[in-house]
Amino acid sequence: MKFEKRTALVTGGAGEIGKALCRKLCGEGVAVALTDLSLERAEEAATLIRQEGGRIRAYEMNVESTESVRSAAEKILADFGRIDILVNNAGVWRPSRFEETSEEKWTKTLNLNLTGTFRVTQAFLKPMLENGYGRIINLGSIAGEVGLPGYCDYAAAKGGVILMTKTLAMELAKKNITVNCVSPGMVGPVRRETKGTWIGRTGSGEEIANLIVFLASDDSSFITGVDYTVDGGRILGPRFCEY
Ligand SMILES: NC(=O)c1ccc[n+]([C@@H]2O[C@H](COP(=O)([O-])OP(=O)(O)OC[C@H]3O[C@@H](n4cnc5c(N)ncnc54)[C@H](O)[C@@H]3O)[C@@H](O)[C@H]2O)c1
Repeated sequence: MKFEKRTALVTGGAGEIGKALCRKLCGEGVAVALTDLSLERAEEAATLIRQEGGRIRAYEMNVESTESVRSAAEKILADFGRIDILVNNAGVWRPSRFEETSEEKWTKTLNLNLTGTFRVTQAFLKPMLENGYGRIINLGSIAGEVGLPGYCDYAAAKGGVILMTKTLAMELAKKNITVNCVSPGMVGPVRRETKGTWIGRTGSGEEIANLIVFLASDDSSFITGVDYTVDGGRILGPRFCEY
């Protein structure tokens, strides 16, 4: 895949999908800023990838806090010079029935998953516009595409991420900056057999990262404003027969 001396920032980079993604981007020669809520977790993930030869640095960045994002962005831009690829990956989902969802939980879920994506993108967009190049990839969810009982707040946030992606893609289309969304479903560290996907198993962080790396590359230049479902056929419908 083509990457012209690119730099990338991944939020929530110490998690399942984030870590797999940082490893793959480093494997393509991209210099990566791995950010996460705790510096310790970020360092731990980055150290492993560095030992494999990756050019990677760890930063603390809480996407819920404008101040934290601003101060991390300042450090990252000073260290890297510019960020070409931004992956808004940090996300959290906690179940609660709608009638039991407090306003506090609702607000936190939206602040983290949706406003966090807005906040980090705002912090890096101006320099991207000045450089005249960018790849922004947001993590949505199948919950944001078709809904998920018990996760009204999360589904609303991810639905917002998907439409923010499409709208921003239109605004930036002439600026050589593409904006796309990847919406996973049923991904975890352990591969489990399940009737919940037509493929018959859950997916791995790596299987999500594969598509993100392509969207992050120079090769994806004519793709913008798209939300990609990566879910082993989960939302195709229930497995009504064996095939
Ligand atoms: N795993 C799935 O099945 C699945 C399905 C649909 C969507 N997603 C989305 O994919 C993305 C990555 O998910 P994952 O499976 O790797 O989850 P994960 O829990 O393994 O990783 C999430 C990371 O985000 C970090 N994080 C949490 N709060 C943060 C904050 N306030 N600021 C910065 N970082 C914070 C966590 O520390 C963690 O490292 C998320 O946006 C998630 O909503 C995942």
